[in-house]
Amino acid sequence: MPRRPKSRWIITIDGPAGAGKSTAARSLANDLGLRYLDTGAMYRAVTWIALRDQVDFSSDAALEAAAKALRLDMPADGRVVAAGVDVTRDIRNAEVTRNVSRVAAVSGVRRVMVERQRAFAVEGGLVAEGRDMATVVFPDADFKFYLDASPTERAKRRVQEIHERGGEASLADVEADIRRRDAYDSSREASPLRRGTDTLYVDTTHLDPRAVVQALLEKVVD
Ligand code: DC
Repeated sequence: MPRRPKSRWIITIDGPAGAGKSTAARSLANDLGLRYLDTGAMYRAVTWIALRDQVDFSSDAALEAAAKALRLDMPADGRVVAAGVDVTRDIRNAEVTRNVSRVAAVSGVRRVMVERQRAFAVEGGLVAEGRDMATVVFPDADFKFYLDASPTERAKRRVQEIHERGGEASLADVEADIRRRDAYDSSREASPLRRGTDTLYVDTTHLDPRAVVQALLEKVVD
């Protein structure tokens, strides 16, 4: 049973990279008239600015300071604007992707981001996507989902995405990277990727994006 009125629902979607979270979260938000919050994009924006400003990646304090100082706007049109620069595309590049796990493992960075994520929810309902949405950020969410898919399927989806953007990538490299990031994100000390006990698990390996949203919509009822 939801705790809030529909217009203020907080719905969380957690899971590893490539499980279909972004597409599902965006469509679900759209179908329900809620806002969409991509928290991975927030960690990517911190990583982008830290790389641009040549922050010392070995220093937790320096990364936390970069997170605190970051002026970050995520308007409803889906753009990500960091320090006045539209970084929507650049936060998905290979360099940011390689370095983001390190930044997301810093507990001070997470503290700053969690505070901003909760502030976002004060303004109204939302579908929030990430790794610790149900376990840490919104433990009292109205509906909690955990999306997953086999590592090979997740790698195939990533490769397709990269090709659609005009890039090049081999399935073997992407799958190795996904397995490495999974291991890192699940074993880190600060808010590791975990399935909460009160979270609905959805295996998307054999589902197309529309079927995933349908599966979630079936569970989201007043
Ligand atoms: O979902 P994504 O690939 O854009 O996430 C980028 C990185 O940020 C990934 O390494 C996991 C991390 N992340 C996190 O630690 N906590 C979140 N709530 C969202 C993402």
